[in-house]
Amino acid sequence: MTALHFENLTENVGTEIIGLDMCQPLEADVRRQLERALADRSVLLLRGQIELTPEQHIDFSRCFGSLEDHVLQNFCLPGYPEIFVVSNIVENGKHIGAFGGSKEFHSDLAYLPEPSMGSVFHCLECPVEGGETAIVSMSAVYEALPSERRDWLSRRRAVFDYVWQYERAHRDRPALTEEQKARVPPIDHPAVRTHPVNGKPALFLSEIWVRRFEGVADAESQTILREILDFATRPEFTYVHKWRPGDVIIWDNRNSMHKACPFDEVNTRRRMHRTTVRGTAPFFQASSA
Ligand SMILES: [Fe+2]
Repeated sequence: MTALHFENLTENVGTEIIGLDMCQPLEADVRRQLERALADRSVLLLRGQIELTPEQHIDFSRCFGSLEDHVLQNFCLPGYPEIFVVSNIVENGKHIGAFGGSKEFHSDLAYLPEPSMGSVFHCLECPVEGGETAIVSMSAVYEALPSERRDWLSRRRAVFDYVWQYERAHRDRPALTEEQKARVPPIDHPAVRTHPVNGKPALFLSEIWVRRFEGVADAESQTILREILDFATRPEFTYVHKWRPGDVIIWDNRNSMHKACPFDEVNTRRRMHRTTVRGTAPFFQASSA
């Protein structure tokens, strides 16, 4: 039996796992421990995985569920549609990966009916300064909110509107076509969702895409959202990961939000491989609160 050691990264979010060989198939018991630790801590960290191959990265990621083939196949690792390359590096006049990741807190693909469950990020190259990933535990935020606000949010649905966000944030980019818009209509999710593994409630909101709370006008919703997010992004709910080559981070989109921190994109190199685990529709069970 593999003896794993868990070391918390901060009080509320993140656990480093020591003693796990990612290159070997995982025993069922180890899988269960990882699944539970991810649910409870939102982020798992494994260091020193320099030798991890794309195949091993994919096999390990499948322990958490089935994987998405990324829509932007031009940024996937050749031959590996499951591995999305995130990088600022240009080779032969072409970006080798997606660049300029979101600098605002979000939960991946939250604007879809079934947002992704999580991601497994493998760092191959990173700058000495900047380029960190910041992750907020939304279950810790939920627990710390004043009870009136918790109750109010527990009874709300939030409307995620990709097109609205795109049009206000990307005036410099080409307009979306009607076909693209039709693929991402506004969708509402519970503002508090129950985690399917540990049953704990977590806020399901982000700095982008959330247009309004159902039944509340846009402007008033934005004021309330800003107030909640100012609270949520306090340091005590946040883990900021300073990357080293060989680091692997797994985050849980069901109870966290994350953002990329800026770095010198012209003079330094950052190269990451990411797999994305499929998710299910968010739900809220009042009894779990
Ligand atoms: Fe993201």
